[in-house]
Amino acid sequence: MRTNEMKELLDLTGSIGKVYGSENTSLFLYSLIKRQKPNCIVELGTGMGLSSLWMGLGQKENGHGELYTIDNGQEANLLTEDIEKIFPQLKGEDPEKSYEQYMNLIFESYSLTNQINFMKKDINLASQHMLMDHELQMVDKSIDVLFADTSYGPYDALNIMRQFLPYMSEYSSILIDSASTHLPTYLTLEKMIDDLNRSKIPQHFLSIKDPKARWNLFQLVSQRTFKLVHLNEKEKRKQNSTAWIIIEPNEYIPQPDVATH
Ligand SMILES: C[S@@+](CC[C@H](N)C(=O)[O-])C[C@H]1O[C@@H](n2cnc3c(N)ncnc32)[C@H](O)[C@@H]1O
Repeated sequence: MRTNEMKELLDLTGSIGKVYGSENTSLFLYSLIKRQKPNCIVELGTGMGLSSLWMGLGQKENGHGELYTIDNGQEANLLTEDIEKIFPQLKGEDPEKSYEQYMNLIFESYSLTNQINFMKKDINLASQHMLMDHELQMVDKSIDVLFADTSYGPYDALNIMRQFLPYMSEYSSILIDSASTHLPTYLTLEKMIDDLNRSKIPQHFLSIKDPKARWNLFQLVSQRTFKLVHLNEKEKRKQNSTAWIIIEPNEYIPQPDVATH
């Protein structure tokens, strides 16, 4: 059963992975999910659903966990054309399917609807209100893995951290696709992580309107250790990296809290 599902997904990866250059990243995410068994994953930017499918499969095999994946469908015209070529069987009787309907059908056809919750929504990362309290209230638990795949500029990276840090689990990961090989973002992340580890809050984080959220940020930064890993790919294309920020409690035992020997 498992082998068939993986094989089907590997075949699909060959055909749709190239659209967003996410074929290797998807397998990395699958492996991370199998190893760390997160309960709650949030993905910003569903695209054609490849990374969601791999993460959802990892959760299904783990026997627990949910994934919330969000996309505003801004590339829907192009995507639905591609989807219709790759999944002709999904078109059915009704030729006018929306991007949202197609995404739900794709997740259904891989039997991953218990794991994957798709939401068509616009995410304004620059908002000075906390998205998790206003736009994303359906994610009602702390986030173990955040895969941000909508934008990768330096302010996007700062905004992602400002928005989601207070909602991340004690031990968790934030992955920002394409950020490590965009020089301004690479340098911003290096400086930001260094500052956070010295409990220095970037000024940018303090423009959040809610004083409680600002206070939570202060608390959290002083109680965590941050590690930055640049997952770079030797591929000649723009999407050739993922910045992986590992958030850990200040502890003297290996994290996540696993069996030691
Ligand atoms: C690179 S693709 C995602 C690829 C997918 N994660 C994968 O690896 O298979 C980026 C997606 O982000 C979506 N997007 C861009 N800006 C957005 C925003 N502000 N809110 C929601 N979705 C957005 C686009 O519609 C696009 O489908």
